[in-house]
Amino acid sequence: MADKFVINGGHALTGSVDVTGAKNAAVAILPAAILARGVCVIENLPRIADVLIIRDILMELGARTEYDDNGTLTVDTTHLDSSHATSELCKRLRASYYFIGALLARFGEAETALPGGCAIGERPIDQHIKGWEAMGAKVSVEYGKIRAEAPNGLKGCDIYMDLVSVGATINIMLAAVHAQGVTTIVNAAKEPHVVDVANFLLCMGAKIKGAGTDIIRITGVPRLHGCNYAVIPDQIETGTLMIAAAATRGDVTLHNVIPRHLDALTAKLLEMGVIVEEGADYLRVRTEGRPHAVRIKTMPYPGFPTDLQQPATVLLSTAEGASMITESIFEQRFKHIHEIRRMGADITIEDKVAVVHGVPRLTGTSVRATDLRAGAALIVAGLMADGTTEIHNIKYIDRGYDHIEDKLNSLGADISRVKEEADEREFY
Ligand code: EPZ
Repeated sequence: MADKFVINGGHALTGSVDVTGAKNAAVAILPAAILARGVCVIENLPRIADVLIIRDILMELGARTEYDDNGTLTVDTTHLDSSHATSELCKRLRASYYFIGALLARFGEAETALPGGCAIGERPIDQHIKGWEAMGAKVSVEYGKIRAEAPNGLKGCDIYMDLVSVGATINIMLAAVHAQGVTTIVNAAKEPHVVDVANFLLCMGAKIKGAGTDIIRITGVPRLHGCNYAVIPDQIETGTLMIAAAATRGDVTLHNVIPRHLDALTAKLLEMGVIVEEGADYLRVRTEGRPHAVRIKTMPYPGFPTDLQQPATVLLSTAEGASMITESIFEQRFKHIHEIRRMGADITIEDKVAVVHGVPRLTGTSVRATDLRAGAALIVAGLMADGTTEIHNIKYIDRGYDHIEDKLNSLGADISRVKEEADEREFY
């Protein structure tokens, strides 16, 4: 039976909570462990479904793993006995495509099932393929599988990305660690999790310069070794909790964070009239009145993160005035708006732009998550709404937020996880 969240809204969030490790770093670092040919101990992993799926794919490939429930995974990839990750598991998340880059570097060939992931747009992988082919791999996509082979190894070269892609930047970096010579990725993504993957590879003995800038240089080396590594705090979980604090007119301090990863959101919250105080590893968010309306345009890092657009839309749904939100990264990332309209939001959508006319309050009702961050947005809506909100399809939320209801209840929310009734399934 599926679960749903039941939220009794209207409680201001107050107090402090620790943020956990970054999902989008973890789901790339675990496949990268294939390159170690030894033992890696990876700490501060978020306890989420996506990490468990990646762990299971590693085991299918022959890795030995031990996972304790405080988020540490020990993985031994000495005796990997396959370069084919073709099980159904690959279709359950986008990040399964990182196995191609890692397996291609280690074995000179790789095959995975086509990736899944949130339905927020077409999400092609042409830039990944462009990078691998530029290094000399032969890539085919047929019968629902991606196959890449480079029997004579890969050769470093200059790769000019047609657009900024987090996944393609990471996947090309993974493939390049053993390439002959230097691979230069121009117009590389600069997200914190791209830098985290590069730092993990450096810990294993890779030669990488420029991660975090738009030009990354990877010099191929013959072998990498195991290492111990701790994943960075989750930029998007941090941002989601900051938005929830502001939306409930609360006063929340988030610990174990890297404040500068949130600079774009902090700047927008300050524009809204929200008070944000930052320390070395914490952020405090508090507010009294309704936020002011603002304009937001999602951009690659260090711009406003597309993964925070959906929760931010909900925050602005009760702002004073009309806000304008442009989603410039994905084509279909406004599905949450249909759901929060049922809660009283007044939002019009014109292609990539949503105009959010602030209303005094939202009211609780039954809604359903359509993707991971839409689910997070509905949690924010339920927390700030008058009355009770039921969120269905929370399997999406469990993919990317580590025990989110426990964190929120420790801040004074009233959110519970309940088994859905049999007949509810047919509607959601
Ligand atoms: C990563 O997805 C994240 N997922 C996404 O987070 C995040 O929204 C996205 O980066 C942008 O920050 C993971 O890290 C697992 P992209 P990714 O390649 O790598 C187009 C979440 O909620 N594109 O940077 O798939 C693409 O269609 C998830 O945690 C191509 O056209 O994103 C999109 O419009 C959702 N060709 C844009 O580029 C390609 O080959 C950015 O995509 C690759 C991408």
